[in-house]
Amino acid sequence: MVGIIERYRHLWNLGPLDESNLVTLGEGQTPLIRVRTPWADGAGPQVFGKLEGCNPTGSFKDRGMTLAVTMAKQAGKTAALCASTGNTAASAAAYAARAGLKAVVVIPGGKVAPGKLLQVRAFGALLLEVEGAFDIALERLRNAIAERSRWELVNSVNPWRILGQESAAYEVVEQLGRVPDLFLLPVGNAGNITAYYRGFKRLGLIPPRFIGCQAEGAASMVEDRDIENPETVATAIRIGKPVSRSFAKEAVTATQGRFVAVSDQAILAAQAELAHQGIFVEPASATPYAVLLRLWQLGELPSAQTAVLVFTGNGLKDSDTAQRVFPTQKTAWDGSTAALDNALTADEVLP
Ligand code: F0G
Repeated sequence: MVGIIERYRHLWNLGPLDESNLVTLGEGQTPLIRVRTPWADGAGPQVFGKLEGCNPTGSFKDRGMTLAVTMAKQAGKTAALCASTGNTAASAAAYAARAGLKAVVVIPGGKVAPGKLLQVRAFGALLLEVEGAFDIALERLRNAIAERSRWELVNSVNPWRILGQESAAYEVVEQLGRVPDLFLLPVGNAGNITAYYRGFKRLGLIPPRFIGCQAEGAASMVEDRDIENPETVATAIRIGKPVSRSFAKEAVTATQGRFVAVSDQAILAAQAELAHQGIFVEPASATPYAVLLRLWQLGELPSAQTAVLVFTGNGLKDSDTAQRVFPTQKTAWDGSTAALDNALTADEVLP
């Protein structure tokens, strides 16, 4: 499958690129599907979900990583380094492995979902831990590598990351045939909202109204301040000092959008509701659905609109949290049809 560089490089100015340096795992072209809502058709917006968990490492990060690692290789860099709440780490490790570069990932101690750590180990990156949140990991890493010109920082401060992530906006327009009215996505370090905003603009289109979705314990944009000790079950967006704060603000104010925070409880409830319609996302990625439901309850969703939710990461990544949301249910079976009859008429079996 052709990745996003080959599909969209005609829109970008990448300069000279030796084709042998192109690093891809076939990212992009993720599905955009209808999301069921508590309201009837026509009574509220038609809602679509962009399944970014379908990317090669299970999150949207691959769109930026293919470009960042390709350009690093083209520039003769020897290593890719990042600070991460987990998904950037998994993606950097995979693309570096693909490219034959070394990778180093720095994570906030104890708060990264196990599936993401497993990916980092599988791809052979060096895993370093710091005490404290993501923000400290990024600050330390930026300082430590400032004088090393052959090492590439592949966090979203790397402009190629944001440019690659724009590709998701192009795809939404292709898939929907238009720009949606409302656009809801989780906001952590605020790179992705920046990328979508720029993506619609690069196509010469008027961007949708952006609703930046955060967890109450890490609501840096909603509260318009740095959060010293961010805390949320949605560990992917457990970030207190978004690097792209000013760009995210611009995306929201220029489109008459807003930032909204929801509780961890609402996030996990949204994760369960999505799972009950066959969509398994990690907690951070359920945040937009939680926000959508909240706005609906408040009567703040204008009718007859189209809304897109970005489901940024796959639910399997955070198996620890998922085990709590979806406890194990094992029942011994004697092989009889009667037992199946009983089971399928029981209330626990959905829908
Ligand atoms: N959703 C998921 C699943 C993420 O992993 C992230 C960010 C976001 C949303 C927020 O995107 O930072 O561009 O605003 N994860 C980063 C990481 C920070 O290190 O994996 P953002």
